[in-house]
Amino acid sequence: MNIQELVRENIKSLKAFSSARAEFEGDADVFLDANESPYQSAHNRYPDPHQRELKSMIASSRKVSAEQIILGNGSDELIDLIVRTFCEPKEDVLRYISPSFGMYKVVADINDVRREEVALDDDFDIDVYRCLADQTTHHKLLFLCSPNNPTGNVLSKDRVLKVVAGWHGIVVIDEAYIEFADQDSILYQLSQLENVIVLQTFSKAMGGAGLRLGMGFASKEIINYLVKVKPPYNVNNHTQAIAKKILENADLTTSQIVECISERRKVTVALEGQKGVKKIYPSDTNFVLVRFQEHKELYQYLMKRGVIIRDRSSQLNCEGCLRLTIGLPKENDMLIKLINQYYEESTIHR
Ligand SMILES: Cc1ncc(COP(=O)(O)O)c(C=O)c1O
Repeated sequence: MNIQELVRENIKSLKAFSSARAEFEGDADVFLDANESPYQSAHNRYPDPHQRELKSMIASSRKVSAEQIILGNGSDELIDLIVRTFCEPKEDVLRYISPSFGMYKVVADINDVRREEVALDDDFDIDVYRCLADQTTHHKLLFLCSPNNPTGNVLSKDRVLKVVAGWHGIVVIDEAYIEFADQDSILYQLSQLENVIVLQTFSKAMGGAGLRLGMGFASKEIINYLVKVKPPYNVNNHTQAIAKKILENADLTTSQIVECISERRKVTVALEGQKGVKKIYPSDTNFVLVRFQEHKELYQYLMKRGVIIRDRSSQLNCEGCLRLTIGLPKENDMLIKLINQYYEESTIHR
């Protein structure tokens, strides 16, 4: 596949902004190049625009080369960068599965890019035929999300691979929740997938939503185009420093993932057979999608008692569905108790 042909004309010819710090390599003692304040603190200097140390740690943890990584101010920034790199406003098309993460649609709209939703099948898996149908040269991007938000399931890998093989543009596979899944990341096959960008994030299993750090993985060629478009200092000093600590502390992350998966099971078992629960969708994430009777009333009931969950009932084929994030054990106990209580009270009043 010719990746260059997929890139927007203005980006192909773009001469990226070269920051003072990016041009410098080696050791120096006196920095009078970037109009920074000379008064030493944890943040008086601009961050490393290439995030070299952090990328090298991520590269070894993910078994890719540092040149195959782009870091962003959350995956949200990377989604936007990808759209701006490949899609000509008003002309090109971004296709995405539905129901799925809302930002694909919002970012297409912000960039005035045409968009097409492809419905998932009855099991919330991808329909290969629908994903690949009616492609034109304007169909630049296809966004998949696996495990998918809000449905919680992984998409079948064989179907994903068929879609990747048949799609004429770039396929973005958003793996924000992959650490909670049984299935391996597609990242391990990346070297054979020249038109794929994999997104992961520090916001979920790695416990760093407030840091705003998203990771994009792709071929060196794709990464080079994305790096040209990114703001020079998009990942700040503190984020880079704390992210390195999180990576050094991988055992803590692993133990939190193990607890979360066990709590997910606990919540699922507690809700199974519960009056008012119509369906619990299988989850490979840190949340569970549940179809309830009287979901609006339940949502209000929980909110009045200080428990906020996410109403996803307006999403395609998610009528009556609420998304429950797995919290601490005592938070999950409280949630289960309140749901039970709601249906007991509601039966009494009926
Ligand atoms: C599927 C998916 N992708 C990306 C994100 C955003 O990640 P980040 O916090 O890295 O911007 C989310 C957040 O909820 C998500 O659910």
